[in-house]
Amino acid sequence: MTTTEYIEQHRDRFLNELKTLIRIPSISTASEHKKDTHQCAVRVQEYLVRAGMDKAELYPTDGHPIVYAEKIIGEDKPTILVYGHYDVQPADPLDEWDTPPFEPTIKTTAQHPQGAIFARGATDDKGQMFIHVKAVEAMVQTGSLPCNVKFMIEGEEEIGSPNLLPFIKEYREMLRSDVILISDTSLLSKNHPSITVGLRGLTYLDVKVRAARADMHSGLFGGAVANPINVLCDMVASLKDEKKHITIPSFYDDVEFPSERDRTLMREAPFDAEEYMDSPGVFGLEGEEGYTTYERTGILPTLDVNGIWGGFTGEGSKTVIPAVASAKISMRLVSKQNYEKITRLFTEHFKQIAPDTVKIEVHPHHGGNPYVTPTDTPEYKAAEAAIQQTFGEKPVPMYEGGSIPIVAQFKEVLGVETILMGFGFDTDGLHSPNEHFGLWNFFKGIETVPAFFSAYARMKDLTA
Ligand code: BES
Ligand code: MN
Ligand code: MN
Repeated sequence: MTTTEYIEQHRDRFLNELKTLIRIPSISTASEHKKDTHQCAVRVQEYLVRAGMDKAELYPTDGHPIVYAEKIIGEDKPTILVYGHYDVQPADPLDEWDTPPFEPTIKTTAQHPQGAIFARGATDDKGQMFIHVKAVEAMVQTGSLPCNVKFMIEGEEEIGSPNLLPFIKEYREMLRSDVILISDTSLLSKNHPSITVGLRGLTYLDVKVRAARADMHSGLFGGAVANPINVLCDMVASLKDEKKHITIPSFYDDVEFPSERDRTLMREAPFDAEEYMDSPGVFGLEGEEGYTTYERTGILPTLDVNGIWGGFTGEGSKTVIPAVASAKISMRLVSKQNYEKITRLFTEHFKQIAPDTVKIEVHPHHGGNPYVTPTDTPEYKAAEAAIQQTFGEKPVPMYEGGSIPIVAQFKEVLGVETILMGFGFDTDGLHSPNEHFGLWNFFKGIETVPAFFSAYARMKDLTA
């Protein structure tokens, strides 16, 4: 039996198993879901055993467990390490979901005429991660696995992978591989496949502006003291100029822009602005002057307020000058920017621009560096060949706006490059209500992964 026949025969079971995985609310950030998250890891482990791995184990961490599995067919064969995550983002706001977030429901949409599975984690990353479990099962069960394969599926990606770096340092030897393969990014579209070659880095921090020990009567003190909310708003506003260029000194020092030739290629990429705007229903687009929308998410860094609060927000009114105001700020990083350096530059600048009437605190959360995949390698060529084979179209290299912070560390610690072969769409509502994953995308992925394995085995043979 060929892998294609095997996949065809087991379609319904594959889909049902994915639904089982999706029903488990493995929200890594929520302590009340710690048991569910663990349960989800156990499920992933079971599916890996059933796929025919030599071994599949849970590695406990200070947080959620890491699932590791491997099948070694020969020391002389190349080794592919698949990384993915079984944890998901919180589902709120719940009342914006058309169907319950952890009850997978199949519905059609304009982009998914053959149906999509609606649920939290459907595309990010359970559906995409499961593609590899099922593709490997199909290869093992039909005796056509051409490479060694290892799986490392973690449960803390959505909270910044706090326990993965120590794990990869400790188990460097066990994780030895020739390439890392990840499906946790997007395809441009069905007819225009792409391979992600750029992921942005990230630094995320809390800022606090304090102007007094206690809240004050806004009549007695208003006009004569600093209002920390106003101060915070002024400070945040000053972080970008009228061209939306970030004003923190030295912020752009390590940003190298792609060549004019590559930028022309990027401008020609079939980016659909209508569709992009339509999925969250935005009213308009804006960004730094002189760049296209695609460039703004792919090759430019950002600075955004993710949340801002302070003072009175209850029902009705209360005349008050608050003592404190707070915000959560994230910066997406590109090219050679380093998140620790950017965190330091931000902190110094933010303290420096504050008026004498307030005290500033900055608390960094998690971060990660940007990553760019080299394209002149056997693994990139294998990915290109695999997609060419199953999509009938040559994939274009794409710079994505999102982040998978551990990928840069894979390169630093393990010395291995990553292939980002995602099968979702940016319009699939990841981290949003009504997240979904197309059935076409799911099965196209399961078909493409074995094509990658054989193309990679072939190309490594040629270069050996
Ligand atoms: N899978 C996403 C990242 C992604 C999605 C990259 C689509 C490219 C295209 C990942 O799960 C994610 O959400 N990452 C976070 C990282 C953060 C929590 C440290 C992000 O980008 O916000
Ligand atoms: Mn993800
Ligand atoms: Mn995510």
